[in-house]
Amino acid sequence: MGFTERAFDYFAKLTKSILKQRRESSGKRGDLVQLLMDAYVYENDLKNASYENLTANTEQEESTEEALKGVTGQSSNKVKRTLTENELISQLIVFFVAGFETTSSTITNCIFELVSNPSVQERLHQELTTSLAGIDPESEQYYDVVMGQIPYLDAVVKETLRKYPALVRFDRTNKIDGYKLGNLTLDAGVLVECSP
Ligand code: HEM
Repeated sequence: MGFTERAFDYFAKLTKSILKQRRESSGKRGDLVQLLMDAYVYENDLKNASYENLTANTEQEESTEEALKGVTGQSSNKVKRTLTENELISQLIVFFVAGFETTSSTITNCIFELVSNPSVQERLHQELTTSLAGIDPESEQYYDVVMGQIPYLDAVVKETLRKYPALVRFDRTNKIDGYKLGNLTLDAGVLVECSP
């Protein structure tokens, strides 16, 4: 089933209430919502922007309330463009959609494979027990070990994603007439689909 209108409305309302809460509370959080609320570029840079050189800034020189209005600032070449409320809502919904189903289905498939292959499960269990012995689960060290120092865990996750890819393809529209992609020459407007 796709992302229904009801689901969209739910997330739009939820996101709006989070933004309202943020505007009304003092202090800042160190998370994605805050980064998106603080992000801005200068209008002038936006007009002359190329893909490579346009990077949003997040240093806050104005109040979050001001930033939320969208376009702020005074002098012509220093007018700030922040994300509008609808743009913020869209970005946060993408974040939910991109992050939730991908991880939950990957974990489910991984557990299914481990149950179906007890010798793999046993080896993974042993490696985890050995690698994490005596390390506080709340510590940075624990995170670093899990994320980068257990090759068999990495192999199990990668094999799960190979057998059950959470995303089966992504696409891009070519913007440049005559663009060379390997042996191919692409016209502008051609859709290129890739298997990740
Ligand atoms: C097994 C887990 C995941 C897989 C396989 C996965 C895969 C991908 C792929 C292939 C793309 C590129 C899509 C494209 O450029 O067309 C992508 C984009 C993205 N992912 Fe993930 N992802 C995973 C988990 C997550 C998580 C946990 C988050 C956030 C909490 C997340 C947030 C995003 C976002 C925001 C984008 C950009 C979407 C956009 O450009 O519109 N992903 N992901």
